[in-house]
Amino acid sequence: MSPEPGVLQDSCGRVVGDLRISITDRCNFRCTYCMPDEGMQWLDRAELLTYEEQVRVARICVDRWGFDAIRVTGGEPTVRSHLPRLFSLLAPLGTDLAMTTNGVKLPELAHDLAAAGLRRVNISLDTLRPETFLALTRRAELDRVLAGVDAALAAGLAPVKINCVVIRGVNDDEVVDLAAFGRAKGVGIRFIEFMPLDASHEWSMSRVVPASEIRDAIHNVFPLEQHAPSGHVEPAERYAYSDGVGDVGFIASVTEPFCGDCDRVRITAEGKFRSCLFALDEHDLRPVLRDGPDGGSDDEVAAVIEAAVAKKWAGHRIGQVDFIQPPRSMSQIGG
Ligand code: 5AD
Ligand code: SF4
Repeated sequence: MSPEPGVLQDSCGRVVGDLRISITDRCNFRCTYCMPDEGMQWLDRAELLTYEEQVRVARICVDRWGFDAIRVTGGEPTVRSHLPRLFSLLAPLGTDLAMTTNGVKLPELAHDLAAAGLRRVNISLDTLRPETFLALTRRAELDRVLAGVDAALAAGLAPVKINCVVIRGVNDDEVVDLAAFGRAKGVGIRFIEFMPLDASHEWSMSRVVPASEIRDAIHNVFPLEQHAPSGHVEPAERYAYSDGVGDVGFIASVTEPFCGDCDRVRITAEGKFRSCLFALDEHDLRPVLRDGPDGGSDDEVAAVIEAAVAKKWAGHRIGQVDFIQPPRSMSQIGG
């Protein structure tokens, strides 16, 4: 019999309710703010958690602590085979079920993913200019990503959101065009400050475009009104366009950290449990999840998670002298 549903609370009193599952460290793009062009060391297939192992963690989180949101990430989750099967296993848990993707495989996959139970997607799209797209992702795939946005809309993966990382001197002159694109398509753009999670460690504060600057640039052209908080924790500060045409969000992870409201935890593709994107410590769930000498019961899996969450820190220290960039990049942690 499963125990009464409780809540999972960290040492700062935050209630955790959102699980991010990275299912692969691989990707078919090489975004400069994430991966180097060459030389990534990939995990072996046997090191990856199986779909069953991932679903077991998700079930424990939902049954014991009432988690109400699950997001599948990577790397690029759509490079893992038989992806609809994972969603068909996660959907019965009844949570919000989302995926973060670069969108390039959505033209083929969106329909099957929606049919399997995926509810919505966030698609990464940082530019509408083919040459900037190539420079940023090192792949000439802008058209297929745009087709992926259309495929997500057609498949009903709503609301479709666009993640847009803004980097000084690269795409900061395009934010109004991207906002216009979002309004025309009926997709909400989420502008994200560039964070120090790039594998090549080229991040610097001078390349971060503050969310307030992006918001002002858009507000000058398309007037904005602040949304009432929706009740659900969201890192994006959301605004509606005053003319009623859609909304837009700003994720000021660097200049205005939202750590105080954070309700997320993550597992990496190889089963390391992380309480923060920027955490320097990880807790290995795989031996407890996997049949073998260290294989454990659901209670033992839950105990590892509880111990990790108990140590979750109050917040990251980006921009402070004592900030240490985690040794892994975004693609290895999961966005
Ligand atoms: N800073 C901000 N966002 C990033 N992403 C990847 N690397 C970074 C970074 N260094 C975003 C991608 C994607 C999500 C998974 O994380 O744009 O939308
Ligand atoms: Fe791939 Fe996403 Fe990293 Fe770009 S940001 S290289 S799409 S994992």
